Parts: sequence; structure tokens; C-alpha cells
Amino acid sequence: MQVYVYDNYEALSIAAAKIVAEALKQNPALKLGFSTGSTPLGLYAELVRLHKSEGLSFSKAFGFNLDEYLGLPACDEQSYHFFMQEQLYRHIDIPPENSFIPDATAKDPTAEAARYEGLISAHGGIDLQILGVGTNGHIGFNEPGSPWDSPCRVADLAYDTLVANARFFDNDMEKVPKQAITMGIATILAAKRIIFMASGQAKAEIIGKILKGEQTLNIPATALQNHPDVALLLDKAAALDVLLPNRSRPPM
Ligand code: F6R
Repeated sequence: MQVYVYDNYEALSIAAAKIVAEALKQNPALKLGFSTGSTPLGLYAELVRLHKSEGLSFSKAFGFNLDEYLGLPACDEQSYHFFMQEQLYRHIDIPPENSFIPDATAKDPTAEAARYEGLISAHGGIDLQILGVGTNGHIGFNEPGSPWDSPCRVADLAYDTLVANARFFDNDMEKVPKQAITMGIATILAAKRIIFMASGQAKAEIIGKILKGEQTLNIPATALQNHPDVALLLDKAAALDVLLPNRSRPPM
């Protein structure tokens, strides 16, 4: 894993966007893997700026999202379909038929997950995967304990994730969907290249564990140590445990 530390979130986001823009220029038909959540917001804003001001085109590119909450229709404001439209897709020139997100309203979610895995394979796999990390080390919705050979599948959200994501659901954990369709760890590891991002002090402890700790099923992101081309982009706050490993932690 190549580790890069930036002064702040804005610098991290711009750096991530430069990697995406460069890859797109090399290969206009790039297969991008997109994530949602707070972390990639700055990256998407910068990609929109590059598209509008500097002519960066996504007209031949493809987008595959990591995951979607089970049961949420695309029109639900908390769905990742809605997120992608609002934060990226409606601002750029990616053809709608080139953007894919699991259909979380499918009658048979397990079959939908298998279809989604097949769709990614049929397109030759992901060239560049954008990835964030949960404070418990999850990637996509692959929570602690997830098998590393897992393909796209239906997964249960961990308690920590329900708590963390309640902020998008009126701070009410009960309203957070309890399951999702997610790319599996094997799907993620099959991406040719990964931009792994973390921002803010809340991520410092898990980043420290990912970089220094043993590989363990309990921290799914440690699976990324097996990947040959991961760029880990951190802001200083997320890098705190790496830069200052022995600092004392204030009581929570
Ligand atoms: C999002 C996803 C999640 C997030 C993670 C971090 O599609 O799959 O794994 O990347 O929960 O979320 P934020 O960026 O909100 O801290």
C-alpha cells in the first residue's frame, strides 16, 4: 500500500481527482468503482469541476457502485442511487446506460447480487476503485468477519455501521436499513487499482490498525494489504495514529 498524507480534506480530494482524471485520459472507457458516504464528496465535487471547467469527459466511462441499502428505491433520498445522481452523475456526461448500482428493490436480492457480480465481470472488471473505510474497518458493506473470497452478496450491517449511518436517517438507528447488497471483498480485490481514502480523526485509529496491524478478518480493510496497487490517501487528521502512534487518546 502506498500511503500519501495531505494537509487537509480539500488537498486529499484534489489529489484523488487527479488520479481519476489521469486514468480517464489514459483510458476514456475506464471502468470506475464508486463509493458513497462523506469521504468521496470532495473528490466528486472536484471531478464535476474538472468536467465543467477543464473538459474532463466521462462520455465513454463506466461507473459501478460498491453497494446499495436493501429495500431503498432509487428515488429515496438516502439511497445510493440518489446520492450518485446528486453528487456526480447529473453533473457530468457519463451515459446513464453506463452507470450501475445494485437494484436493492429486486424481488430476489441474492440473485440480484449475483447478476451484479456477473455484470462487472462482463465489462472486464473494475479498473479503478474508489474506496472509503468504516470506523470498524469495513469496506463496502463487508463488515468484520466477512470472508475475503466473497463475491457481491447480501450482507448484514454491523451495529457500529448502523450507529455511524444514523446521521443520514434523522439520527435514528432504527431507520437505517439493516442489510445491503455489496460488492464482496473478492470483488473489491479484483479491481486493477484502488484509491483508498480516509479523512478526519474518527478514522485515525482504524487507519493505524490497517497500516500496522496483522491481517485479520475482524478488520476487512486489512485484506487490501494483499492488493498490488492501492494508494491510501489520508488527511493529517486520519493519519494521526500513523504520524503520532503513541499519543494519548482522550477518553470518549
Ligand atoms: C459507501 C461504503 C462505505 C463507506 C464507509 C465510510 O459506499 O461502502 O464502506 O465508504 O462507511 O463512510 P464515510 O465516508 O461516510 O465515513
